[in-house]
Amino acid sequence: MDIKIDEIKKKLLTFGERVYKTIIRHGFDQSGLTKSKIIFSNLFLHIHPVKVHRRSLMFKSTLGLGVIAFVLFFILIVSGLLIMFHYVPSTIVGPDGFPDAYQRMLNLRSNVFWGTFIRNMHRWGAHAMCAIVALHMLRTFLTGSYRNGREFNWVLGCILGLLTILLSYTGYLLPWDQLAYWGVKVGTEIAKIAPGGDIIRGLLLGDNEVGQEALLRFYVLHVAILPFVISIVIALHFFRIRKDGGLARPADTKHEKLIPHSEFGTVKNNSVFKSARSYKLVELVKDNAPKVNEEVDQMVFAWPKLITRELILFMLVLAVMVIVSVLFNAALEAPADPNHPTNPSKAPWYFLGLQELVSYHGFIGGVAIPGILVGLVTAAPYIEMFIETMFNIQRKIVGGVWFHRQRILENSLFLTIFISMLILIIIGTFFRGPNWAFIYPWDVPVSGGH
Ligand code: HEM
Repeated sequence: MDIKIDEIKKKLLTFGERVYKTIIRHGFDQSGLTKSKIIFSNLFLHIHPVKVHRRSLMFKSTLGLGVIAFVLFFILIVSGLLIMFHYVPSTIVGPDGFPDAYQRMLNLRSNVFWGTFIRNMHRWGAHAMCAIVALHMLRTFLTGSYRNGREFNWVLGCILGLLTILLSYTGYLLPWDQLAYWGVKVGTEIAKIAPGGDIIRGLLLGDNEVGQEALLRFYVLHVAILPFVISIVIALHFFRIRKDGGLARPADTKHEKLIPHSEFGTVKNNSVFKSARSYKLVELVKDNAPKVNEEVDQMVFAWPKLITRELILFMLVLAVMVIVSVLFNAALEAPADPNHPTNPSKAPWYFLGLQELVSYHGFIGGVAIPGILVGLVTAAPYIEMFIETMFNIQRKIVGGVWFHRQRILENSLFLTIFISMLILIIIGTFFRGPNWAFIYPWDVPVSGGH
């Protein structure tokens, strides 16, 4: 009898193992073959290459900002979906005297389990994503990482930056409180100044004023169109990083520390994993389309080195967001009232630089300067390329180096634009009071622009 139970146990174990292998098709040993399989047999991991350069793993190379931006986007999708179970984009006033959309926000705060927390995660996540994307852009510029074939990815990045702001801005209106209403009202008034701005405003609002049609349009843009478009562009952004040969980095020198042999484990055909990278076929392609780095000694397996780093970053961002969302509640002011403007009426913080410029001159501040700046920044890699081509300037600047001494001019110009924008945002946020008069924040409490 005893023997039979043992036998059954053994068979059950074998059965369990067979079931496991139909789902996870690899072990977790240290061999190069397994480390490769872990990456390319997993849908979510195979966006990574099997091997990455040692330098790309260093925190100082990227400051983790791109990954943090992506984690925030993920948090926003999850928290946004949860809010969608509750929210209704309607301005119809209910029996309690509040517009539906606003009432839903009140309910979320008081009657929905963890509702305030979920709303906080979404709201603070949106602000954080705008800020982190701007810092990521600053990092890629100051390290010259958009050069040497990565120019187009910079352009995709700029599109991502604009989409991020649009996503945040369209969400701003949804609570339908005074802050939302007047923030969006100011933003769409600025749009009027631009040539054709009336048409854009009309398309966005679906009416002459910010009302039910605008709320519905902002809602559809916010929950469906923009998240879909941004997901596609993020996928393209990541795809380009792969096809551009990983992150920008300076060439290896013979002084680099070599990756120890033990990293590669014992594999039957050592050459596949050590000297030739795993995608041999690609190397047959001539010309310089898919880039294959020959300095393989500096390549390490993405599993576990890169994946664990990304996971740690994910946990850290999540932890910070949870702490912030537990400690600080997102504002909800009185319900939107088109007849009682807030004074001052402030756009969301990322548009306050623009609003500050508009206060000096409508067209120059609101259209000409921002238009030129956005154009210059987006085209920056191609402007550099144009000047180098036309004047036969041979600069072999490799990306991935902070403040390269050959890029002092470019970096100074970009930093000037970045810091000027930051100063304008700070002035707009803290130093503007009723009627846009200059105030000291410690004198009068400032409202709006959260
Ligand atoms: C939704 C917004 C964005 C996300 C999720 C994102 C994500 C990423 C990630 C994960 C990387 C890998 C390196 C890293 O972790 O830093 C990366 C690289 C890069 N990103 Fe972004 N990015 C975004 C927006 C932008 C913006 C606004 C720009 C610039 C205008 C930009 C330009 C670049 C460039 C040029 C690279 C290659 C850098 C290199 O080779 O070192 N990205 N991005």
